[in-house]
Amino acid sequence: MLLEAYLEEVAATAIRSALELEGSVMPLLRPTADAQFGDFQINAAMPLAKKLGRPPRELAGPIAEALQREPAIEKAEVAGPGFVNLTLRPAWVGEQLEAMLRDVDKLGVPLVESPETIVVDFSSPNIAKQMHVGHLRTTVIGDSVSRLLGAVGHRVIRDNHIGDWGTQFGLLIVGMREFGDAEELERDAIAELERVYKLASARAKEDEAFAEQARAELARLQAGDADNRALWEQFVTATRASLDRVYALLGVEFDEWLGESAYHDALPEVVERLLSAGIAREDQGALCVFFGELSAAPKGLRKQKEPFIVRKKDGAFLYSTTDIATVLHREQQFRADRSVYVVDARQSLHFRQLFAVMGLLEVNMRLDHVAFGTVLGDDGKPLRTRDGQPITLFSLLTEAEERAGARIDEARESGKLRIADEDLAFAKRAIGIGSVKYADLHQNRMSDYRFDWDKMISFAGNAAPYLMFNYARTRSIFDKASASLGASEEFATFAAPVVPEHATEIALARTLIRFPDVVHRAAETYQPHLLCEHLYSVATAFSRFFTECPVLKAEGATRSSRLGLTALVGRQLERGLGLLGIPVITRM
Ligand code: ARG
Repeated sequence: MLLEAYLEEVAATAIRSALELEGSVMPLLRPTADAQFGDFQINAAMPLAKKLGRPPRELAGPIAEALQREPAIEKAEVAGPGFVNLTLRPAWVGEQLEAMLRDVDKLGVPLVESPETIVVDFSSPNIAKQMHVGHLRTTVIGDSVSRLLGAVGHRVIRDNHIGDWGTQFGLLIVGMREFGDAEELERDAIAELERVYKLASARAKEDEAFAEQARAELARLQAGDADNRALWEQFVTATRASLDRVYALLGVEFDEWLGESAYHDALPEVVERLLSAGIAREDQGALCVFFGELSAAPKGLRKQKEPFIVRKKDGAFLYSTTDIATVLHREQQFRADRSVYVVDARQSLHFRQLFAVMGLLEVNMRLDHVAFGTVLGDDGKPLRTRDGQPITLFSLLTEAEERAGARIDEARESGKLRIADEDLAFAKRAIGIGSVKYADLHQNRMSDYRFDWDKMISFAGNAAPYLMFNYARTRSIFDKASASLGASEEFATFAAPVVPEHATEIALARTLIRFPDVVHRAAETYQPHLLCEHLYSVATAFSRFFTECPVLKAEGATRSSRLGLTALVGRQLERGLGLLGIPVITRM
């Protein structure tokens, strides 16, 4: 059940009956800023007072009285100029938690009423280059957004739109002939391609004939020349192998790998369509969309002088042309209702322009750019190696595993962690890589963040290991419970009436009841950090509960209610971390 939607309805009914109104009313339900004032507040009295010409407190009084009679509400109080503060009734909250426990598969998260087919376009690195830290965010956020959208019931198609068709291939082909080492290409393809590319692009800058040759090779490749095509395939295959290694570490998968090359044949038609619809026109030999000249274009773009170029003077198509073809393909082949682009905020103008062109072409697909900021180093500049090179994603993830490994070894020696030898390798990887993912996901994605190993691999603060550790605690309580009382107390299926009584139990219950809302909001707004915030509050509330409320030593209904809370904490942590792409460790 979605709590806020339910309360909105309850509040709307209460307002209508208290004030004898008809038709729809907006209760303006908000979570309270401070738990001491209750769980939610209703702000409707202020705008209604204006409309009805009465003092707001005079309206808030009867609204509060009507709400007070609701089974979900413990206390409804008028505060300030006319807010109504609501405190949920613990027994009612307990009932909802019990229902969540019984809903083993979905944990109370309802499915959306109209499921959509959604393409999530993420990661999308360029061929012939290693993935570097710049690809971390798109890959990790895109994976989590895909999981979240799937969890609320959408059909998700994960598409890796790799850059496998740009001008770099002309340079790589001539470069390979001029400076290449076939043996090295066999041994360590990406390193060799990066080396050759650097030499070739430097040479092209000062040697016009060489640059011309590169353009000619590119044109031959694009025209289907067999030799060039074979070389290109070799570049792509080699890069794929190195990408796959990184995706395996991250546990990230795709349904489609429709790179830029997949759309090559569709591009002339795209341009035709733009021309015949009067959206693009020629300008100094190039074909461009000038938004300022199109009265149907969005206002914000109409002031933009920069055109959206779809074909260069020399006839070459661009990134933008390919992206238009891609949307059309997703419409025709996938019947997609929505495309979501998880791409760096620096490309936001590109996407605004692309989306505007699709609107002008009357393509009826929802298009969203899920933008994000930059990963910074200690110096506040984009994270790089000591000698100024971008850090490869592979080495970053390997380092994460090593650093987590060292922490784990230390904590095991001092007895703080109990991870069995056979689980150790898995735990080091899960904690190392999980820490990097969580550090990224728990930030509002629009902000830049500083990469800080010590904060991210922490068993105490807002970090993956802390959440994983608390998950393992819930499992250990269940191990002990079922050892003494048998298989009916299985962690994964346990359900019982939940009756929160102790203040820390009530606080924990109030946090747990929000899980379905949080998952929906995180999916709807593409903000995994909302889920991180929830999981962190669950873990901290559980820690307090763990010290103040004995579970196994309690008896009867109290014991089973506390076991219920513990199970729900564990399952929300497991499910929630799963939606962030982070595995759990059962014993630690
Ligand atoms: N390959 C591009 C880059 O590295 C990202 C592609 C994003 N997806 C898209 N459909 N434009 O910048």
